[in-house]
Amino acid sequence: MADKTRLIVEGGDPAADPKAFRRALGSFPTGVSIITTPGLDAPAGVTANSFASVSLDPPLVLWSIAHTSRSHAAFRQSAHFAINILADDQVGVSQAFASASYDKFSLVDWHRGGTGSPLIDNALAYFDCVCEARHEGGDHTIMIGRVIEFGRSEGSPLAFSQGRYGITLDHPEVAAKARDRKFEEPGLDELPFLSLIAKAHYKEDADLEERRSAARYTQVGSKVLAGLYQSAPLTADELARRMYLDRREVDDSLNEFLADGHVAIFDGHRFALTESGKQRRRQMIEYLSRYQDEQLADINPADLIVATRVLKAFLTGPHQGKPDLHI
Ligand SMILES: Cc1cc2nc3c(=O)[nH]c(=O)nc-3n(C[C@H](O)[C@H](O)[C@H](O)COP(=O)(O)O)c2cc1C
Repeated sequence: MADKTRLIVEGGDPAADPKAFRRALGSFPTGVSIITTPGLDAPAGVTANSFASVSLDPPLVLWSIAHTSRSHAAFRQSAHFAINILADDQVGVSQAFASASYDKFSLVDWHRGGTGSPLIDNALAYFDCVCEARHEGGDHTIMIGRVIEFGRSEGSPLAFSQGRYGITLDHPEVAAKARDRKFEEPGLDELPFLSLIAKAHYKEDADLEERRSAARYTQVGSKVLAGLYQSAPLTADELARRMYLDRREVDDSLNEFLADGHVAIFDGHRFALTESGKQRRRQMIEYLSRYQDEQLADINPADLIVATRVLKAFLTGPHQGKPDLHI
């Protein structure tokens, strides 16, 4: 049962606002897969999150490919394809196969599966398929595959939700209950330090996201502005790679910023912030800073200084990767 009321921030006829429609579809989190096919001359592959299981007996799966994809013809002509489910350390692989690169397979290690389709090394799972059926579905072709062989490795999947990559973590409520079903969920006093960090992050992320959408400061928009602020001019592909964003979300966001005059285009394909774009970014930062002040208003300033020092030490400690935090 939900414990809070959510306002509808956008909606209506999908044709009236296709971007809002896509954002609503993005509310459904998925994994990320690379779908490959032997191709006629050279192998082809695309990043896809439209993968879904269909049937256990017979073993069928499906995914859909956009008619505009340059690989569409290769998948239409081939009798085989393979689904490679990515692990959480394979964001780079996802970005490579979502790019306009003509030589995607030189960017990753791979080998051929039994049907000849490329299998990406170190993927979390693969399904080597014979193409069973193709159905036209609007601007996509739905491909149904019969799984001839599959493989699974241990690890955690790469997740994709609301236009950005993520990892899967146990929900704090479920994790706490699972830890000891005999007792009530432990109070905050009983939680170890790392669980407190996870709980605080979860609370902050959910609150902030709600505020952001109400003020129409989307995460993707913030990242696009931050990316162009750090380095410009950039192509849409460079921006998507640099900020770990879905290229289509980047295109949508750039188009909105272009229309609002926040972004200017150079040489027909490179983007940079205009003065009003820089101003928009400053407004977002101020908005977030006000939000932070509100959230922390009841906390003793001296405690905050210590907490900040502890978190910084934790994030830069010997066992931590470099934090890559963007507002
Ligand atoms: C997370 C993610 C999921 C995607 N899912 C799909 C999909 O299901 N179907 C599709 O046609 N394109 C999807 N795309 C976009 C393609 O990967 C992208 O258009 C790619 O450039 C196609 O390659 P191609 O033009 O070389 O064929 C997705 C991209 C990302 C980043």
